[in-house]
Amino acid sequence: MKAIITGIEAFLPDYILTNEELSTMVDTSDEWIMSRVGIKERRILKEDGLGTSYMGEQAVRKLLAATNTKPEEIELLICATVSPDMLFPATANIISDKCGILNAWGYDMNAGCCGFIFSFETVRRFIETGKYKKAILVCGERMSGMTNYEDRTTCPLFGDAAVAMLIEPTEDENLGFQDSIMHVDGIGRHYLYQTAGGSLYPPTEETVKNRLHFIHQDGQHVFKYAVSRMADVSVEMMERHNLSADDIAYLIPHQANLRIIDATGRRMGLTPDKILIDIEKFGNTAGTSIPLALWDFKNKFKKGDTLIFSAFGAGFTWGSILYRWAY
Ligand code: UT7
Repeated sequence: MKAIITGIEAFLPDYILTNEELSTMVDTSDEWIMSRVGIKERRILKEDGLGTSYMGEQAVRKLLAATNTKPEEIELLICATVSPDMLFPATANIISDKCGILNAWGYDMNAGCCGFIFSFETVRRFIETGKYKKAILVCGERMSGMTNYEDRTTCPLFGDAAVAMLIEPTEDENLGFQDSIMHVDGIGRHYLYQTAGGSLYPPTEETVKNRLHFIHQDGQHVFKYAVSRMADVSVEMMERHNLSADDIAYLIPHQANLRIIDATGRRMGLTPDKILIDIEKFGNTAGTSIPLALWDFKNKFKKGDTLIFSAFGAGFTWGSILYRWAY
């Protein structure tokens, strides 16, 4: 039994934050952001009182309609996010409740920008054992809620979005989730983190005043790790399965920096047409970026196409999935 994605739908907030607008907020420019990162604009969920569950709910509603699935048929719903509505209860539970998914259980997974690949690895195990026939994986991030719009080193990077996928079994062993390589290294906690709000530094007047509830990133350090780890793990996946660049239809990488993506594609020997990139439109949506690109480019895929998903993120977390498109 293999796990296949049988439907994928996205929700994007309407508000578009452009590099031009950012340049009026901090000392930056379109030229710097485009040349160093490759982002032109990103979506922002502006409305007060709405969080990640709102975007997840919209994506799940579209998914249920597009796949003609009744909410009661869903048995498991997992939400990958680093920006849950609240630390608890789980955003997965809130989305299920809002969508009338009454017969499922589920939980949130926090794996930084590897949110999709780590949680897909989890969901596929439930499907492969035969325990469940219909699972939903929601990847959603309201990154804007923890972005410091006075810090030019991080505020151009992140965007908001949610994507929902229906995951079902197939008996065709050549389709769907084929293999994974996953890693973590806790050294990453020194370079990419949100200091306060958890049990170590509960919120106080001081933590708010010192802006400790925002994302902190030592960009250069993270870049060095990301560029080597993401390429290494992608090449390892190719070698493990004896795949040449010709065998791969597309690489769908985490969209953090165009230079990291280019370096990964080069190490894999891929021509640019085989690397799917939409960082320019959406920025870094953390664990949502790979499924967002899958949704964005889904009309390109043919049944049986060999895809590689590769990501690197906070933790550090990194890994790669070999997947064959199933419809
Ligand atoms: O998604 C999870 C994992 N995250 C990543 O993979 C991100 C990895 N890191 C990166 O993508 C890059 O390191 C960044 C895009 C975050 C930064 O790019 P960089 O080329 O590493 O820039 P830098 O931090 O080395 O800064 C170079 C210069 C500095 O000025 P000085 O010290 O050379 O005078 C910065 O102050 O660029 C300056 N700078 C900016 N200038 C204009 C930093 N941010 C900006 C900005 N606009 N927004």
